[in-house]
Amino acid sequence: MSLPTLSLALLDAIEEPALVVEEERVAAANPPALAILGEKIVGRDIRFVLRHPDALELILDGAGGECELNALGGHERPWTLTVRPLPESTQLVRLIDRSAAAAAERMRVDFVANASHELRTPLTSMIGYAETLAEEVPIDDELRARFGTMIHGEARRMLRIIEDLMSLSRIEADRFVPPADRLALDEVARVAVDNGRALAGERGCSLRSTIYPAGPIAGDFGQLLQLTDNLVANAIRYGCGPDSGQVTIGTAIEDGRAVLRIIDQGEGIAPDYLSRITERFYRVDAARSRDSGGTGLGLSIAKHIAERHLARLEIRSTVGVGTEVTVAFPLVRA
Ligand SMILES: Nc1ncnc2c1ncn2[C@@H]1O[C@H](COP(=O)(O)OP(=O)(O)OP(=O)(O)O)[C@@H](O)[C@H]1O
Ligand SMILES: [Mg+2]
Repeated sequence: MSLPTLSLALLDAIEEPALVVEEERVAAANPPALAILGEKIVGRDIRFVLRHPDALELILDGAGGECELNALGGHERPWTLTVRPLPESTQLVRLIDRSAAAAAERMRVDFVANASHELRTPLTSMIGYAETLAEEVPIDDELRARFGTMIHGEARRMLRIIEDLMSLSRIEADRFVPPADRLALDEVARVAVDNGRALAGERGCSLRSTIYPAGPIAGDFGQLLQLTDNLVANAIRYGCGPDSGQVTIGTAIEDGRAVLRIIDQGEGIAPDYLSRITERFYRVDAARSRDSGGTGLGLSIAKHIAERHLARLEIRSTVGVGTEVTVAFPLVRA
């Protein structure tokens, strides 16, 4: 029951776990299969190697086909097992890891659930206020005006979420389209500093800029401004106030890259949150973000814009010290 050298070489060349079964025994297995199913499976009865009833039925039946497995050799992951009949009563069995596809599907389902929830919340309160206004009981002008303002505020919030979602899907659609313009990051940062002044003034926060030439890069000015505006707004909203120092917005060339850096001296982000804050709709303190008009999409948009520009976005934060966000772009020839 030994396979020709060429067959063994072909089996080893398959990246996913694969084995050859001959007359209900494992005739050969490639290293990924040995790693998952055990080092000593060659020569053993397939019934002791794969204990999954559906998989065994497929193999013992001999006609070929595929089935889904939820766990294998102690690894709880989704797999697809495919069986293909070969000459001389042998079969090729391959195991395809489905965990990446399953994770993507989970993200999609979570995203739809989160988006629906985020839109339903303002909509529910709008319906409540509108119902009260529609009742045929007298209501004083002051209350009517207050309800009108509430409905307006909630409607604007829904519009902001929808605009952010549309923006995100446009950026994702253009993911593989390289930005056509040549520009300098310092031009973007200057506009973002001007844009941030009003919010900084409201919060009693001081803005400092350390903007040096940083270009040229291949960029989309509108998207880069959107990215920088959000980082500046985050630093002001969550990292700055009359008692918590200032926000620094800087650009420079460092190690052959054009770098944008935004530093605040706020309360920082704990490590558990830090790993998740670029996820869509993820907020450390949802109520606080919502009160200041946040949708929880800003950093996710920023991450996608950075990816489209082949830039690296890094967030470093120390609780009680502050947060530093760096985005490093590849330079191009002028
Ligand atoms: N500089 C910062 N300091 C502390 N926490 C921050 C900082 N930047 C972001 N965060 C946290 O990360 C969360 C996600 O930020 P993100 O920009 O994605 O959404 P948002 O600011 O809540 O809403 P949006 O940007 O859509 O208006 C924020 O809600 C906040 O909890
Ligand atoms: Mg934000």
